[in-house]
Amino acid sequence: MNDRTKDYVFISYSHANDIDPITSAFDKQGYNVVFDNAMSYGEEWDLNARRYISSERCKGVLIVVSEKSLTSKPVLTEIEYTARFRKKFFCIMTNNLTLMELYSSIADKLDENKRYVLDSIMEYLSDQQLFVRASGFDWTRIKETFAQWGFSGDAPQGNEDFVVGKYTSEIKGEKERLFRQQKGYYNFDMQAINGVFDELGRDDLCILDLGCSNGALTISRFASDSRIKKVIGVDYNERDIEEAKAAAEGYGDRFAFYRLDLEDKNVISELNSIFAENGIEKIDLVFAALVLHHLKNPKLLLLKLYDIFSDDGKIIIRGSDDGGKLCYPETELLNEIIERSGKLITNSDRSNGRKLYSQLYGTGYVGIRMLYSVTDTCEKDRKRKENLFDVGFKFRLNRIDDLIKLNPDNEFLKSERAWMEKALTTLKEAFCERDFWYCNTSYIAVAGVK
Ligand SMILES: C[S@@+](CC[C@H](N)C(=O)[O-])C[C@H]1O[C@@H](n2cnc3c(N)ncnc32)[C@H](O)[C@@H]1O
Repeated sequence: MNDRTKDYVFISYSHANDIDPITSAFDKQGYNVVFDNAMSYGEEWDLNARRYISSERCKGVLIVVSEKSLTSKPVLTEIEYTARFRKKFFCIMTNNLTLMELYSSIADKLDENKRYVLDSIMEYLSDQQLFVRASGFDWTRIKETFAQWGFSGDAPQGNEDFVVGKYTSEIKGEKERLFRQQKGYYNFDMQAINGVFDELGRDDLCILDLGCSNGALTISRFASDSRIKKVIGVDYNERDIEEAKAAAEGYGDRFAFYRLDLEDKNVISELNSIFAENGIEKIDLVFAALVLHHLKNPKLLLLKLYDIFSDDGKIIIRGSDDGGKLCYPETELLNEIIERSGKLITNSDRSNGRKLYSQLYGTGYVGIRMLYSVTDTCEKDRKRKENLFDVGFKFRLNRIDDLIKLNPDNEFLKSERAWMEKALTTLKEAFCERDFWYCNTSYIAVAGVK
């Protein structure tokens, strides 16, 4: 939840750790955890950490223990604040080692400074502390511990754990929805792309499209501009890549498509081999439409990508954000649909649009600017209103169906599906009323590397 206006526990972790699975596990149990995704580095971070930990609302601190966090100065500072403000704390181990095993496995490899940080942190961590593992939380013990801290959860009844698969465009209706979206955002994308090409002011441009799906969007955006030399599209969906290769056949050697998982730890070396195979030295434009929000750690990819750009290279990221959807009447219904589907659709970040600027800023990109595209239902005919509804809402039911396929016995998912189906029918009817207004904002961030 990350809400500082209610009681919370603060999560201390190293930025090299992926804490999404941990925060969402606490979220599902109804515990409000606060972490520093709203803080930036430097002095501001230190003050915020102090403020967040010292607050009356902060009932305790969870320390995510990993090789990285045990040698992190910011984590040490947070632990020092935890002690100074006499907050209770416990640790979450991200691997299967005990604390001492982890200590022994890293201590000898560290330089003097890191060793000093490690030893200082170890002075605070004792064997009495409740240690839990990220791979399997002991909720009975955690609940007892939180109860002793005077920290209570507010888990909705029946909100059981369920398995979530990776995003795939093979969900029923998803290809069709992507196609409609691609058409709808053509002008918006071209505004950003042409702006960047004009700024670059040169030919022989090499482009990388991340999460290119079946290549339809890649080809529609990059087929005709004579300034382009080569376009590489990558996606982790094998079938999509096969389709993309077939679709690109009529375009000579302008396009090349490859299967690649952007979360693969060797993503940059994989990309470099692809570039070498295609005679590309550096990339002039990285384009990423509606893909970064599927990654657990989009900032990590943004950091890694830094190495592949030409000196004046640019990045264009198109995102979306459920917070950019407004309507009247039926405001409450729309908000509830968004809130409830947000708890189920956890394989994508439905609030990604608002984060683009900060993600780029936080990873060192420069000259960042944001573009906005607003669509609404005003004076639209029924078909176009339904199209807006389908693109923004209908897919939510298909995604729940997909979850039910993975969790066929989960009663909670079935009851959420029943609620969602009814709610979407009501909202769709409302969309077609004459006095109904709906408006959606989409976001593009453009940035450079130098
Ligand atoms: C919502 S679709 C967007 C497709 C296309 N860019 C568009 O705007 O129409 C997201 C795409 O990202 C791909 N994707 C998601 N996670 C990925 C990952 N870790 N590595 C590579 N591709 C990924 C999916 O397979 C899918 O094709």
